[in-house]
Amino acid sequence: MRTVLTRLSLTEFRSYAALSLEMDGRSVWLAGPNGAGKTNLLEAVSFLIPGRGLRNTVLTEMGRRLPGEREGRAWAVSAVVRAGDDETRLGTGVEQAGGARRLVRVDGEPAPPGRLADHVRQVWLTPAQDRLFLESAGDRRRFFDRLTYAGEPPHAGNVQAYEKAMRERIRLLTDGSPDRAWLEALEAQLAERGTLMAMARARTLGALSAEIATRGERPFPQARLSLTGEWERLALEGAAFDDLQDRLARALAQGRDRDAAAGRGLVGPHRTDLSVVHLGKDRLAAECSTGEQKALILNIVLAQAARLARAEGQPAPILLLDEVAAHLDVRRRAALFDEIEALGLQAFLTGTDEMLFEGLAGRAQGYRVEDSGLAAVG
Ligand SMILES: Nc1ncnc2c1ncn2[C@@H]1O[C@H](COP(=O)(O)OP(=O)(O)O)[C@@H](O)[C@H]1O
Ligand SMILES: [Mg+2]
Repeated sequence: MRTVLTRLSLTEFRSYAALSLEMDGRSVWLAGPNGAGKTNLLEAVSFLIPGRGLRNTVLTEMGRRLPGEREGRAWAVSAVVRAGDDETRLGTGVEQAGGARRLVRVDGEPAPPGRLADHVRQVWLTPAQDRLFLESAGDRRRFFDRLTYAGEPPHAGNVQAYEKAMRERIRLLTDGSPDRAWLEALEAQLAERGTLMAMARARTLGALSAEIATRGERPFPQARLSLTGEWERLALEGAAFDDLQDRLARALAQGRDRDAAAGRGLVGPHRTDLSVVHLGKDRLAAECSTGEQKALILNIVLAQAARLARAEGQPAPILLLDEVAAHLDVRRRAALFDEIEALGLQAFLTGTDEMLFEGLAGRAQGYRVEDSGLAAVG
């Protein structure tokens, strides 16, 4: 269902003392020099879903801090989301300076952060992902997990619970003489959550691959995605839930000594990596040029956004594209703008140069950003 933000307010968030933005439902572009506050604004939007936001940093960093102040202030981000004819007010923030616990309100009522996903989904691409194919498996896994959450919000909770149980299990194993019953209980949890994780990733991989294939020869290079994990492979091959869960439980039990010696878990879906091949060149993404890598990731992100835009009974994603336009040549930039419009998605785009967004004239709301202040263009 078409889902857009019609109002966004920031209070003491990062570099913004206060900002209130009314939007008509079209996409929004922000142009301004480095340090103007463009990414901070996208990051504020990213707190309208569960999690730690676009920069994946600790909540204590979000509150505005003047030079000399030791702690970030209490901060808030609120928004009005329109989905079809329905409007919902969402609010989030921390109530105390230096606060690390995020509170959420939905239509004024306190709610667990997970409820945000009932109203807003997001897909984003940031400069931090420019090196995605060159960096650690963990970064790629998190990238893929975020795409998975956008379609299946419970995945976030499963990953979190799994990682917590795995840390606990390793602590027990390296403690010397672990409490056996406790260990078995943790491994049962890991097997259940891990199976849910692997199955959600496998579903996403299958759907995303099909979407990428039907996109065909768009100006963005096609990618072949695969997940390296045994658990995802079994799930893709159609393994039943109970079967996968039993296998994972057995592998964990058998791996205790090795894991204790290594000080980390050597088997399980927390070890999965995402592998991406540039189809046209039949070459691993890591071996492609920086520009090609960016275009590959963009194609993956757009394919997921396109799928979710069509999904019935759930909010269409909001796209956050930080410094993406500058990496694209004129033809690809035009194709990106056309696709965002054709999908009916609301995108928030940033760039240092207004000229980048000329192709959006009349199709988006543009703002010049300077010193964390916005001035409408046109
Ligand atoms: N908690 C904070 N309090 C005040 N200023 C902050 C805070 N966090 C970041 N900033 C400032 O925000 C600015 C960066 O804004 P950003 O949105 O990343 O810029 P850009 O427009 O280049 O994307 C920097 O000047 C940084 O010092
Ligand atoms: Mg920036």
